[in-house]
Amino acid sequence: MAIKTVLKMGEPLLLEVAQTVAQFNTPELHALVQDMQDTMTSLDGAGLAAPQIGVGLQVVIFGFKKNQRYPDADEIPFTVLINPKLTMLSDEMEEDWEGCLSVPGLRGKVPRYVRLRYQGFDHFGNEIDREASGFHARVVQHECDHLQGILYPMRIRDYRSFGFAEVLFPDRSVIDE
Ligand code: NI
Repeated sequence: MAIKTVLKMGEPLLLEVAQTVAQFNTPELHALVQDMQDTMTSLDGAGLAAPQIGVGLQVVIFGFKKNQRYPDADEIPFTVLINPKLTMLSDEMEEDWEGCLSVPGLRGKVPRYVRLRYQGFDHFGNEIDREASGFHARVVQHECDHLQGILYPMRIRDYRSFGFAEVLFPDRSVIDE
């Protein structure tokens, strides 16, 4: 459908709590998901939330194919997740680097829960109920944070681990979410 402009940090909509989706399998919802997919693909991101393209609804997409640029990251199936509910499956957390399409050029080390269950619906209204760990769980938490108006820099504990990707990682690319 269309590649949309991704809103950048500083935009008030990124700080709002998104509304739940009331109706599934509608032309409007399918168009939104297609726009999100086109936008995420064009920017080579691993995830995108609807508020990032200016739509205040509880819709996120994510997915990641293993490739040579990111040999350490696990593959994540492409997923459309609407009205998500997260349940942490342990108290264990770990810190790792994150980037965000709304915070271009920067990377920060963010603590996230290691294991979780996520539930919700896809755009057709089919139920989703999965458990995830590691990078998959990290991406889900990052995207669902967008629906609560939370950007990853707000979760950083040690700002010495926050900086420009080109300085931190001059030799490799890092994934944006
Ligand atoms: Ni993001």
